[in-house]
Amino acid sequence: MSRIVYVNGEYLPEEEAKVSVFDRGFLFADGVYEVTSVLEGKLIDFDGHAKRLERSLSELDMTRPLTREGLLDVHRELIARNALTEGMIYLQITRGSDGDRDFVFPDPEHTRPSVVLFTQAKMIADNPTAGTGIKVISIEDIRWGRRDIKTVQLLYPSMGKMMAKKAGADDAWMVEDGFVTEGTSNNAYIVKDGTIITRHLGNEILHGITRAAVLRFAREAQMKIEERPFTLDEARAADEAFVTSASAFVMPVVEIDGATVGAGSPGPVAKRLREIYLEESRRAAL
Ligand code: PDD
Repeated sequence: MSRIVYVNGEYLPEEEAKVSVFDRGFLFADGVYEVTSVLEGKLIDFDGHAKRLERSLSELDMTRPLTREGLLDVHRELIARNALTEGMIYLQITRGSDGDRDFVFPDPEHTRPSVVLFTQAKMIADNPTAGTGIKVISIEDIRWGRRDIKTVQLLYPSMGKMMAKKAGADDAWMVEDGFVTEGTSNNAYIVKDGTIITRHLGNEILHGITRAAVLRFAREAQMKIEERPFTLDEARAADEAFVTSASAFVMPVVEIDGATVGAGSPGPVAKRLREIYLEESRRAAL
């Protein structure tokens, strides 16, 4: 069945929604995005995603086309029009089109950003993969230096997923100067002797909204946390590993480059954090 999508103020059947061939998102990957999960028809961590979106736009000198309330209305309208109970809402804002191809940013007075949102129905809470865990490979992190901005430049993460697939794995962890930065579309963690270790925030990684929530819940549950870089050797010798993202929540990692992590099955810390995260997020959903 065809979805109803949002494009520049209109709700349209997906077949009728169009953007210009000159759109800078298409020509220059000049745009930002957010993925917000939906459980029982409600938005998980909407405020966090809206705040990060505003930051991404401001870091790229892009104008904000909608207020936070306006954005919330569009999300809710799409949930209603598509009868979405579980899945994600994808949002993309690009610098728009000034009718030609030019590296120089167009004058924001005359060029409006393009805004697109659509729903993706998917069972994400009762995901059977969470019961078995995923296998990752390691690849070099060759992305640009502002990974804290959630831009639509996702070619290398896509290539990373393809390298993983080719190697019989599910995903890839990226490594820079000997330290793990993050997964291709998630934040990376290990657990050693009960301590949760994940890279500190900076320009090298995306500041995951799920990461912030999971660390908050872990602190509230008196778990020990170290926000610092860790190496692949440390990861291979860890008791547990996992990743977090809006679409995977907390997902155990059971293999790194063919070597099992811990017992080779989802560990107690990852399992518990997934449970807490789902419970607390459902409670706070909008
Ligand atoms: N990806 N790191 C990267 C590189 C990501 O692309 C993502 C999210 C995360 C986790 O961020 P959050 O917890 O806010 O979802 C970390 C989304 C889900 C995607 O591209 O589909």
